[in-house]
Amino acid sequence: MDVNQPSFDFDKEIDRTATDSDKWNKYKGKDILPMWVADSDFQSPPAVINALQDRIAHGVFGYTHASESLTDIFVSRMAERYNWHIQPEWVVYLPGLVCGLNIAARALTEQGQAIVSPSPIYPPFISSAKFAERPLVKAPVKLENGRWLPDLTHIDDQLTEQGGLLQMCNPLNPGGTVYRREELDATLAFAEKHNLLVCSDEIHCDLILDNDCQHIPFASLNDSAAQRSVTLMAPSKTFNIAGLGASIAIIPNADIRARFNRVKRGIVPGVNLLAFTAAEAAYQHGEDWLQAQLKYLASHRDYLMQEINALPGMKLEQIEATYLAWIDCSELPVENPFSFFEKAGVGLSPGLDFGNRKFVRLNFGCTRKTLEEALRRMKAAIATLDL
Ligand SMILES: Cc1ncc(COP(=O)(O)O)c(C=O)c1O
Repeated sequence: MDVNQPSFDFDKEIDRTATDSDKWNKYKGKDILPMWVADSDFQSPPAVINALQDRIAHGVFGYTHASESLTDIFVSRMAERYNWHIQPEWVVYLPGLVCGLNIAARALTEQGQAIVSPSPIYPPFISSAKFAERPLVKAPVKLENGRWLPDLTHIDDQLTEQGGLLQMCNPLNPGGTVYRREELDATLAFAEKHNLLVCSDEIHCDLILDNDCQHIPFASLNDSAAQRSVTLMAPSKTFNIAGLGASIAIIPNADIRARFNRVKRGIVPGVNLLAFTAAEAAYQHGEDWLQAQLKYLASHRDYLMQEINALPGMKLEQIEATYLAWIDCSELPVENPFSFFEKAGVGLSPGLDFGNRKFVRLNFGCTRKTLEEALRRMKAAIATLDL
């Protein structure tokens, strides 16, 4: 496939400044490149744009629900991509994935039960324990043969007999690690030993950049994994439709599903009809676009790794998945790497938000031109240091 065919032109510069974009508005009017929040600067697949235009042309936007065809498409997708055979009734639609994390935190634990979370991690994991008023146990994410992984053995003796919830993020954000089967098996063994239910955030599962990595849903391991888990997925990162809000919880166990739905009742609104329209078009017709995007992102990743690792004081491990680079700046002689690069005109995510202030997270879901300019600015800033 030709990545450069006009409909899949990821190099196309699109001005997002007049669209109330969170990413671009943060630095509105300033010469700072926004490379923080996790949406990309790419136009969604043409099939998604066309489906939305058709739906809008209809002109009536009343209450709605998921079409049977969307659920069928999703069920088939799980079987085809992951050899995971789910039932339509296991599927619960949500207007976002973070609300799924919070519902799971409340529905799957009782007072006093702990929530175990990797650390550093995407911040809503941590806040979900706080909002649910549950004690948080942090599993430190460490480097193992160049891959970031939570160290569960480290917290073995911090857990009581009481059970609780284990949160997983696969692929891992930040870090980009794609769990291997034996790592998932070990995670399941840990959950069984400590009587933990599992909430597995797999929002980045379609964004695998390494051909020799394969996403394996935790719940697809075996019946024990399925019966203790809530899996969260979404088309939002994959097809860049995060602003529309459609996510999916897959909950095989009927009792857990009922508890989840009870917490959500009367509070969590339904998914809006444009989000359903976009999700269905993306899952049904977005595959060629997705493959082209993965090629584009993998080439960004390779370029970024080479450039960052050539800079003094900076280190970046292999990013197996996601368009988010977790950059180690601990050897850089600056107090606050986030502010240092922001002053140099590059708006990254502060590592502190995830749990380590000596890191920054760079979103490379942008054009090559933007990425090159960001690196030029970072290099120039580092050149001013006495290294
Ligand atoms: C791991 C992870 N979960 C959830 C989300 C956001 O989900 P949503 O915007 O659907 O609430 C993100 C966005 O960056 C993420 O990286």
